[in-house]
Amino acid sequence: MRIDFPNGFIWGTSTAAAQVETAGPHNWRGQKALDGAVFDRTTDHELRRNTDAALIAQFGSLYRCGIDWSRIQPVPQGKFVPEVVAEYQLFFEDLRNRGVSIMLVLHHFAHPEWFEKMGAWTNEDNIPFYLEYVRLCVKHFGEYVHFWNTFNEPNVYAMNAFLLGNFPPAKKARYFLANRVLDNMGEAHDIAFRMIREKSDAPIGISLNTALFEGRGILGKLVAAFVGWWFMRRAARPFERCDFWGLSYYAYMIFDPFPVDAMQGRRKLDQWNIPYDKMWGYRPEGLGKVLRSFYKKYQKPVFITENGICTDDPQKRIQAIKDYLSVCANAIKNGVPLLGYIHWSTWDNFEWHLGPSYRFGLLRVNFDTMEREQTPAATFYATITRENGFDL
Ligand code: BGC
Repeated sequence: MRIDFPNGFIWGTSTAAAQVETAGPHNWRGQKALDGAVFDRTTDHELRRNTDAALIAQFGSLYRCGIDWSRIQPVPQGKFVPEVVAEYQLFFEDLRNRGVSIMLVLHHFAHPEWFEKMGAWTNEDNIPFYLEYVRLCVKHFGEYVHFWNTFNEPNVYAMNAFLLGNFPPAKKARYFLANRVLDNMGEAHDIAFRMIREKSDAPIGISLNTALFEGRGILGKLVAAFVGWWFMRRAARPFERCDFWGLSYYAYMIFDPFPVDAMQGRRKLDQWNIPYDKMWGYRPEGLGKVLRSFYKKYQKPVFITENGICTDDPQKRIQAIKDYLSVCANAIKNGVPLLGYIHWSTWDNFEWHLGPSYRFGLLRVNFDTMEREQTPAATFYATITRENGFDL
């Protein structure tokens, strides 16, 4: 069976600056990950921009990425460092010459240490510092940008940094603080939206993480319902001023009533016969549910800004791409205005608090030599992006 996508459907891949570049002075630098790696040297992308651009260009016409804010603006509200501006401009220019435009993510979990020290998103007074950074990004890079993401997954950031303690500043169970962080990011988004709109016609949105939450037992169902509401409704509310909803999807999360993931709860998932990748339960149909519910509520175009699977096995990655894209094609058939699909990730990178051994890359990275290797999954996805469809 052939799965085809509409004309003009946009294909791409994504990375995040902090996960692929050697760490500038940002809030993640020096953090020790679960697999023992230290957040510093990641994949040497800043030294391999030209060869990386050639690899990126095989995966469609859009590349979603970010800037290392800590490297480009080492002092609060200071001028951008000219050499760093030139480095990114040259890279974007190179991509443009290869037919690739940019979805620019302005905040992806990492920010300068100076911003962290002043309380980052916990303090409303810090919003102007972000806005000045955004203003300069629009000025220097606006011409390359076809889509804007003011924030990547504010819900994942607030949850991991203020509820679960996984991301810096590693606070736990600070529910009201997590909500304040969401609201401050939302306010920053709102102002940034208007600022960007004055200078750029490119659509503006965020990327919100979504998942399928299900409970086992009465208590599990209650917890799943509450977490689902907080994660996808409460967290979305401050960002409703947007041209499109950027959504990412990876996980099927079961509550029994505690969350069961594939890192700690493998035995239970096996018992329940639920497939999983290295991190979470696997249920691609959940993406269809999310797409329908977002479109129903907001009546705005949607964009899959991230989707992928944590595995070392390219054959599993190919299967996941097929599964997820079948769900996307079905949603389009049922009337969801899905603008495009961006696969996470272009190449293996530093998976935040877990470390580089948690692989998502279409291209495999040898972390000793930093060589990128084409995998069957990379070739498979590249072909889909060229043919605008695939044989199931
Ligand atoms: C994040 C990425 C991350 C991916 C896989 C997303 O939530 O935006 O930075 O690597 O999930 O966990």
